[in-house]
Amino acid sequence: MCSRVRLEEKLILQALQERDAEVEKIDAERVTWNLNGSALGDYDVILVRCVSHSQAYYLTRWLEDLGIPTVSPHRVVATCGDKLLTSAALQAAGVPIPRTQLAFTPEAALAAIEEMGYPVVLKPVHGSWGRLLAKVNDRNAAEALLEHKTTLGGYVHSVFYIQEYVDKPGRDIRTLVVGDEVVYAVYRRSEHWITNTARGGEALPCPMSPQIVELSLAAARAVGGGIVAVDLLETKDGRLLVNEVNHTPEFHGAMQATEADIVGKMVDYVLKIAS
Ligand SMILES: Nc1ncnc2c1ncn2[C@@H]1O[C@H](COP(=O)(O)OP(=O)(O)O)[C@@H](O)[C@H]1O
Ligand SMILES: [Mg+2]
Repeated sequence: MCSRVRLEEKLILQALQERDAEVEKIDAERVTWNLNGSALGDYDVILVRCVSHSQAYYLTRWLEDLGIPTVSPHRVVATCGDKLLTSAALQAAGVPIPRTQLAFTPEAALAAIEEMGYPVVLKPVHGSWGRLLAKVNDRNAAEALLEHKTTLGGYVHSVFYIQEYVDKPGRDIRTLVVGDEVVYAVYRRSEHWITNTARGGEALPCPMSPQIVELSLAAARAVGGGIVAVDLLETKDGRLLVNEVNHTPEFHGAMQATEADIVGKMVDYVLKIAS
């Protein structure tokens, strides 16, 4: 189930066909969820690859009601689609995360920022590809940003997600978890502090240390597991923190830096759920 067919979806469809699976592509943008009762058809599993989080969020809930298993399940989509819910799930599971605070007014946000100490990072709780992330270096910037968010921002800007800035070594680590396995780890290196490959970060091979494996699996478990991508941050003193977990991973960037059979592992997992 998807709308835009990116390289990822093309490769997945191809791999499913090669395995002789009976596959149908459902256009998420043509589906309507009739709450008074409508069926979708008979499916053993639906792999949800919507770019839009809100589509994935509601459609997985509907499919759950219809008794059709989805990858990812609704619970995973709901948690990973919200940075605060993700941080809370990680924290509850004992997975190390950067210091993080949530505030609901600019005044409370400023107090939290001052307490945390500069620089801090402000993020919308929904969003991806590094959009609307702000690194705040001093009080002047904090005040200006909070005023802008309050005056110009919509609903998403009335929730202030505040995080310590982790002074990482010009890169972060992205891993892909499929079931019980970490399929790959890559560095995403950038001159910019936002290292997403969607923002020009370069994917490079990253040795899979036992610590990376253990933390990735723990992070995946904490949000409900399945097929998820994990962002890890390295601290100056050699610790690893989990930054976030993603429910519909892109991997065209990582493909440049790993030999792993990404699509094969994903497709095998989906077919396992189907059976
Ligand atoms: N607290 C932080 N400290 C340092 N760098 C960060 C921090 N939070 C995010 N980043 C950088 O910004 C990138 C995007 O942040 P992330 O929280 O993963 O949002 P998105 O959902 O947009 O990917 C991360 O991959 C990392 O490079
Ligand atoms: Mg990210």
